[in-house]
Amino acid sequence: MLIDDKNWWRQAAVYQIYPRSFADANGDGLGDLQGVISRADYLKSLHIDAVWLSPFYPSALADGGYDVDDYRNVDPRIGTLEDFDEMVQVLHERGIRVIVDLVPNHTSNLHEWFQAALKAGPGSPERARYIFREGRGENGELPPTDWTSIFGGPSWTRVEDGQWYLHNFAPEQPDLNWKNPEVHEDFIKTLRFWLDRGADGFRVDVAHGLAKDLPEDAASLPSKAELDAMPVDGTHPLWDRDEVHEIYREWREVLNEYTPARTAVAEAWVETSRRPHYSSPDGLGQAFNFDLLDADFSAPEFRHLIAHNLELSDQTGSSSTWVFSNHDVVRHATRFGLPLLGSAEDIEHPDTWIKADQAKHFVLTDGAEPALDRELGLRRARAATLLELALPGSAYMYQGEELGLHEVVEISDDQRQDPTFFRSPGVEKGRDGCRVPLPWTAEGESFGFGQAAPHLPQPAWFAEVSVEKQDGKDGSTLSMYREALALRRELLTEDESLTWIDELCGEYSLAFERAGGWVTVMNFGDDPIALPAGKVLLSSGPLAQEGELPGATTVWLQR
Ligand code: NOJ
Repeated sequence: MLIDDKNWWRQAAVYQIYPRSFADANGDGLGDLQGVISRADYLKSLHIDAVWLSPFYPSALADGGYDVDDYRNVDPRIGTLEDFDEMVQVLHERGIRVIVDLVPNHTSNLHEWFQAALKAGPGSPERARYIFREGRGENGELPPTDWTSIFGGPSWTRVEDGQWYLHNFAPEQPDLNWKNPEVHEDFIKTLRFWLDRGADGFRVDVAHGLAKDLPEDAASLPSKAELDAMPVDGTHPLWDRDEVHEIYREWREVLNEYTPARTAVAEAWVETSRRPHYSSPDGLGQAFNFDLLDADFSAPEFRHLIAHNLELSDQTGSSSTWVFSNHDVVRHATRFGLPLLGSAEDIEHPDTWIKADQAKHFVLTDGAEPALDRELGLRRARAATLLELALPGSAYMYQGEELGLHEVVEISDDQRQDPTFFRSPGVEKGRDGCRVPLPWTAEGESFGFGQAAPHLPQPAWFAEVSVEKQDGKDGSTLSMYREALALRRELLTEDESLTWIDELCGEYSLAFERAGGWVTVMNFGDDPIALPAGKVLLSSGPLAQEGELPGATTVWLQR
């Protein structure tokens, strides 16, 4: 049984499962809930506090499951509601909580509501659950605006009777109209549905997008240029509007009906100063901070971002979150092994197979030989993770990072699934490279993922990084994660303060102390630095010389 600890989430180690790529028990090439159950002891061996499962709902997979056909069911290819119940039970028995991914900004185009909206026609209550508008031009043949969707291509798609609907993502993901009370009621029902089945919390997809202010008359809608020029300060027509928090206040009341109060974490890509609105205790309670995920491998940048985020979470009494990898970005072992590229404009290596766009998100491009230093990338990733696990707040890890996986680039265009690839079109390789099914064994069908060809191809180098190869092996990335997470449990106290050790912080190093004399020192540079006094508890890589911390390595010490 789980201990009823209302603060469990504050410094939790959360492991993200991308269900379709974790473990395939029924041999159809797609991971499933029985697969998760079959690996429950593995999850326990990681000493994590919770798993967050990316969507497992019925879906045509236009966007990896973030196109939901039915919010209160499980995709038959992934399992059944009974499998969900069994998974919750098996994980709870092992002290692991379960976080469900909620996708409230949009349904899929196959959701019964959208199908009903198509049938019912303009002006109907069915259409009022979505954002339908008349087009411009003589016969409404032009979209209401020239906006582009996040995945590329237009934000509007025309339906048979001539109206257009808004989709900020793929056309298969029509945006819901959150001004409609029915939408509110239905999501409350969905929250209760999963909470009553034992879910411990939610990860809320596109949490900053639900509230919109879009006049009915297409002529009054701003153009793309006007929209892009508008401040995102609570008044923007599409993003981060102040009234979105009214929705989360409603949800908080529901979450608080349970004991202990259930948790929620917002996926909100907003200005950092606006993040506390999402993490406030009368709202979702916690919000993702992607700042380290976006950061260069730089000590001053890390220090600034850590300090800033600790201040931000203090503003609402929440705790911060830290993320280096998830299902949307190039894995951090790979990012940290690439030459530093500034923006798209100043790419020095036009042939590189991964480039950074202006927002510093990495996108795959076609290219010649990768300018990737795999070994350095992994060393840095391990160092970064050990630092992350010592920070106050919760650490969100993504399946496969505990194996030190690199991004998979060996995926041919005809095997790609990500809508960003199809809508760019083909310019961005998209996010498939971090979603390739996990290697459990060094040999055998799909490296132990299942009994059939996996839905995305696995590269030959997966053998060497498989769980089987790393299990129990001194110095493997898997062993480092296990040791770090086990030790973290022992070292953590309720004291969430962090004290910088200024004399050890510089251009290439960071050091801080947590309660109880737990000291973390990270060397970002290439050359060794002197280690301070203290008993070495764990390091992210070998310590060759006594009293020295090698480059790209982090150490935990006991003062
Ligand atoms: C954020 C999710 O993490 C991403 O995978 C998805 O494509 C978009 N939201 C749209 O739901």
